[in-house]
Amino acid sequence: MTITIRRATPNDAAAYARFMSHPDVFAALMQMPFTDEEVWRSRLTDSCAPGKTDLPLAAELHGKVVGSAGLHPVGSQMRRRHVLTLGISVAPEAQRQGVGSALMAAMCDYADNWIGALRIELFVYVDNARAIGLYRKHGFEIEGTFRGYAMRDGEYVDAYAMARLHPRPPQIATTKTTA
Ligand SMILES: CC(C)(COP(=O)(O)OP(=O)(O)OC[C@H]1O[C@@H](n2cnc3c(N)ncnc32)[C@H](O)[C@@H]1OP(=O)(O)O)[C@@H](O)C(=O)NCCC(=O)NCCS
Repeated sequence: MTITIRRATPNDAAAYARFMSHPDVFAALMQMPFTDEEVWRSRLTDSCAPGKTDLPLAAELHGKVVGSAGLHPVGSQMRRRHVLTLGISVAPEAQRQGVGSALMAAMCDYADNWIGALRIELFVYVDNARAIGLYRKHGFEIEGTFRGYAMRDGEYVDAYAMARLHPRPPQIATTKTTA
């Protein structure tokens, strides 16, 4: 099993449009039906622009793009700079092969060891057992339930708020110097 995680580029747009068009994928997210390559090229161009602090990731399984993830600031408030949010999806034919876990591990490493973020938070529909299992595996806990959180295929569905706190909040290094 060869899984490669790398920064996404606008050239991943066609692959993203393919798996984001699948009802099992877009219905589990906040995405809409009738997406296409141009929509994803525009989004990826925006999130890859110089100066953006988002981390757009793509996952390849045996050289084929089958997964996407993004780690993002939660907004512009200075007092929430220690908080990030994330999104993740894997093509149906590539699920249950470790791709989602590889993307989560990469995002948690980036947040913990290169940003020092104290909190990663997200929402997940209460019936999305696959994603809840993935998030629990990577240290997320349910913090509450939002009733009627979003419209999904004709009904309002509930969502859990989940979050993961940094397991080892960073400290100033105590390395001895020779000076
Ligand atoms: C959630 C999702 C990203 C998981 O990706 P994946 O590549 O299948 O995940 P992995 O194979 O790495 O599995 C990692 C863990 O996720 C959990 N998991 C994955 N599929 C599961 C399932 N069908 N039932 C229960 N838990 C599941 C398990 O804890 C699993 O760990 P294990 O293999 O040690 O049991 C994928 O199912 C997906 O893209 N779903 C549609 C989009 C979506 O729901 N995104 C999240 C929105 S909040």
